[in-house]
Amino acid sequence: MRKRQLGKTGLEVSELALGTWGLSGDAYGSVPDIEVDRTIDRAVALGITLFDTADVYGEGGAMERKLGKRLPAQRTVVATKLGTNLDSYPEKSFTSEYLYMAFERSQERLKRDCVDIVLLHNPSLKSFDDDETFGLLKRLKDEARIRAWGVAAGNYAVAERAIERGCDVLEMAYNCFFFRDVKRLGLKLRSEGVALFARSVLSYGLLAGHWTSEREFYPPDHRADRWNAEELKRRVEQLDALRACVGGPAPTMRSVALRYVLQNERVSAAVLGPRNSTQLDQLVRDAGRMPPYLAPPTMAKLEAGLLANGVTGE
Ligand SMILES: NC(=O)c1ccc[n+]([C@@H]2O[C@H](COP(=O)([O-])OP(=O)(O)OC[C@H]3O[C@@H](n4cnc5c(N)ncnc54)[C@H](OP(=O)(O)O)[C@@H]3O)[C@@H](O)[C@H]2O)c1
Repeated sequence: MRKRQLGKTGLEVSELALGTWGLSGDAYGSVPDIEVDRTIDRAVALGITLFDTADVYGEGGAMERKLGKRLPAQRTVVATKLGTNLDSYPEKSFTSEYLYMAFERSQERLKRDCVDIVLLHNPSLKSFDDDETFGLLKRLKDEARIRAWGVAAGNYAVAERAIERGCDVLEMAYNCFFFRDVKRLGLKLRSEGVALFARSVLSYGLLAGHWTSEREFYPPDHRADRWNAEELKRRVEQLDALRACVGGPAPTMRSVALRYVLQNERVSAAVLGPRNSTQLDQLVRDAGRMPPYLAPPTMAKLEAGLLANGVTGE
């Protein structure tokens, strides 16, 4: 498994990370417990060293608890997200008091004296005005209770503000249908030494190219609310751009999509979202092992195809 530097943090992690939202059952529907265990263990066996979670993935922090139980702590890096208080309204809370309480609970579930990376979980722009929040993150870092902090950012403005506040890591959606925010941030990421976790690399499964335009989703699968029938049809048609690039080292559309993300050297890790160990194996196999993930002519063909198919990247 190839490794990449995490910006200025001094950490080095596998360029493929295991995300645990899908495994939690909250996002796409339930996953048997035994399959969750198998997928985490398989990730470790494959050499994945970065694991992405949140205190709200699974009931009562179930995914953090799983990772705490199954990961070899010395050989793995965990990034968890805090700032969602399911017992309050509004649910988002980034005050230093709340975050500290949430941090201690995560620390216990993850069974780590030092929680490697803490990310603020989808904060609003206004949350950045509270100096005490960032004072707390600095103190936790000074006391070696975290190694780095960052922000899971929902849009460009939040990401930009997080960089201004001195974050070490940004986690953002990045894939060949949704690339504009990350492309705009590119130079800033580099000059400030900010690591980038690219998530939703398959655009919630769409880019694997297995769906017909009539595909339907049902709650609690979050995709039930994501696209209306017309939008889904348009998206499925736009997949022609990826289909045209399948071949050679990229034998599937999933492979083209994953390699597009890995080809960007600003990406520190692609956060995968498998729902079982078979999907994980497919993703690792399709990702390739080293640059060029997509040869320059294929990348040029893909970008031209996306443009021709009306993909705007947002
Ligand atoms: N705000 C945030 O911080 C945030 C938000 C979203 C995600 N994340 C993190 O990023 C991770 C990944 O996010 P995501 O769920 O959006 O990722 P994604 O990779 O875009 O989508 C995951 C979905 O793709 C499909 N898939 C996965 N492997 C496949 C394979 N081998 N072949 C075909 N289809 C496959 C599965 O859906 P099917 O049911 O169709 O098989 C799966 O549920 C999450 O687990 C989480 O850790 C963070």
